[in-house]
Parts: sequence; C-alpha cells; structure tokens
Amino acid sequence: MFAFRQQGARFLRKRFLSTNTDFRRVTLIAGDGIGPEISAAVRKIFAAANVPIEWDPVDVTPVKTPDGKTTVPQAVLDSVHRNKIGLKGPLATPIGKGHVSLNLTLRRVFNLYANVRPCQSLKGLTTLYDDVNLVTIRENTEGEYSGIEHAVVDGVVQSIKLITRAASLRVAEFAFEYARANDRRQVTAVHKANIMRLSDGLFLQCCREMSEKYSDVKYEESLLDTLCLAMVQDPTQFDVLVMPNLYGDILSDLCAGLVGGLGVTPSGNIGKDGVAIFEAVHGTAPDIAGRDMANPTALLLSGVMMLRHMGLTSQARQIEKATMETIANKETRTKDLGGEASCSQFTDSICSKLA
Ligand code: IPM
Ligand code: MN
Repeated sequence: MFAFRQQGARFLRKRFLSTNTDFRRVTLIAGDGIGPEISAAVRKIFAAANVPIEWDPVDVTPVKTPDGKTTVPQAVLDSVHRNKIGLKGPLATPIGKGHVSLNLTLRRVFNLYANVRPCQSLKGLTTLYDDVNLVTIRENTEGEYSGIEHAVVDGVVQSIKLITRAASLRVAEFAFEYARANDRRQVTAVHKANIMRLSDGLFLQCCREMSEKYSDVKYEESLLDTLCLAMVQDPTQFDVLVMPNLYGDILSDLCAGLVGGLGVTPSGNIGKDGVAIFEAVHGTAPDIAGRDMANPTALLLSGVMMLRHMGLTSQARQIEKATMETIANKETRTKDLGGEASCSQFTDSICSKLA
C-alpha cells in the first residue's frame, strides 16, 4: 500500500513536472479599469488556441520605498525576473501628481530599452488610410523621460533630456536587427538635431554609425516635424522608424490613429537576454470598466507579438487570423470600432474561429 502510494506520488509528480516543462510561465499584469476584463478575454482566446502558456498573475498596486518613492511590489519584480516575459494591461498614470508612472517604472527596472509599435492597416476596418505597414521603435529608458527636473528659482523650472551614446547605439542596433529579421527594407532615424544639436545630434550620430553595419537595409534621416507632415500625407512611404523617447511616444500615437487608434495597436518593450513586457498602450477607460464593452484587441495583438517573441509562431498566426476575421465583420466588432458586439461576444467570435 505504501509502495503504491509512493509510486502514485511519483507518477503525479512526473506528470506535473512534464506539463510544467512544456508550458512556459508568463507574468500577467491585468491592470486597472478595463484591464481585468480584457486580460480575461486574452486568456480565454489563448486557451482556445491551446497556447502552451501558464499565467502568473501579479498585482501592481504601488508600494512606497523607505525614501518615500513609489515603486512596484517585490512580487512583480520577482515574477518578471523569473519568467522573463510579461503581458500587461493598462495602469492608471496620475497626471502631475507626486508619483512616477508605474508603466515607466516597469520599463526602467527591467531595462526594456526598445519600445516596438507596429502599425498596420486592418483588413475590413476602414480608416482614412489604406496599406499602412510601419513600425515605430522608440528609445525607452532615457531622453525626455529621464525624470530629472527641478525648480531653478520660483517660476523657472528645468527638465533634462538625457541622451547617451550607449542607449542610442543599442536602440539603433535593435532597429536594424528588427528590420533585417522582419524583411523590412528601410530604417528612418527621426530627430530634431537642427535644434537640439548635442542631444539629438548624438542620437543621430549613433544611428548613422550603426547603419554602416547594415548595408542591406536602406538608411534615411528625417526631422520630426517634416516626418509628421509626410506621415499624414502618405504613411505608406514609411517602414521602420527609430527615435528618442518622447518623439516615439507622440509619433506612435499618431501612427496608431492612422490605422484605427490605440484600441487596435500592440506594443512591446524589449530588453536584454529576451526579457520583454508586451502591453496595451491605451488607457484604463474607467467609464466603461466592468460593463462588458471594452475592446481587447490591443492587448490581444500585444499577446500575439509576445508569442512571436517566444517562438510560438503558429499560435500567433492562428490567433491573428481569427482576430482579423472577427474585426472584418461589423457584426462581431466592438462599439469603439463601429460595431455592436460586447467584449464577450467579440471574444467568443474569435474563439469559435480557433476551435
Ligand atoms: C505610452 C504611454 C506612457 C508613456 C504613459 C502611460 C506613461 O503613453 O506607453 O505611450 O508616456 O510612455
Ligand atoms: Mn504614449
């Protein structure tokens, strides 16, 4: 009897271990507002596609450090360090309040130096533009986001835009590697080096140097303002764009607007050694939270980017196809995309195409 029990335990342990090695754990930060419902939608769709992922849900309620700053709980740090991959819903960022955005804290603590936002026209979703297919790659750790600000005297404040050679080179290298790996023809460095001669000048210099190592990828440079004008006139002329932090923040929203908005655009924050957090960039939409009205597409397509990053390409392709088909049909689209479907109807429609 004892031997049997032991054998049984061994059997169970073996089964448990073998399931665990086939599955990869992914940190899940559901987020605030509509975050929990869109995360639940993604989990359901991933399960329907038999994605070999085990979720590790963590809570990102901010905690105070001994010196009074706000940061993310230790459990979040441990989870991302352990799993190396995360998927994240929207987190509320207080405007002008004392505490630093948790979104930025996550990017900084894990040194996720490249922010990748593909913008692609979705078949069946009519916008002002057709055939947009570009990617913004944004430096994600410094620049105007360095957070170094102080009051010089009353009524005069100073904010420091920090640009380093190391961070500029690594994001430039990332952009060229990305172009090569994804069969893209051109990288455009976006800057204002005519005004910020030293800071943007250094960024541009690093892009130029890096371009010399990638003679198979066409390299161009463009002033940010000129590029914005050209972008709204004809976005199809652009391919991969690489730029400092704040320009990337603004330009990626503009580009999202060309293809249907933040509700349908994915984003990935990529660091060294495969560490990455994929996230929906839209807000928490507290007005519709808990009402089964939210559109989970941005988080879902961020999840699809994540699957590709993890090498799970067939599942990525399958989910992407089912999502596109669901969006192409007005009946199964959510309200923000001009449809009538609830979040759960939209989710179920995608799942039915995966079965
Ligand atoms: C983004 C967001 C963030 C940013 C906010 C939420 C801090 O707008 O990811 O683009 O400014 O980077
Ligand atoms: Mn933004």
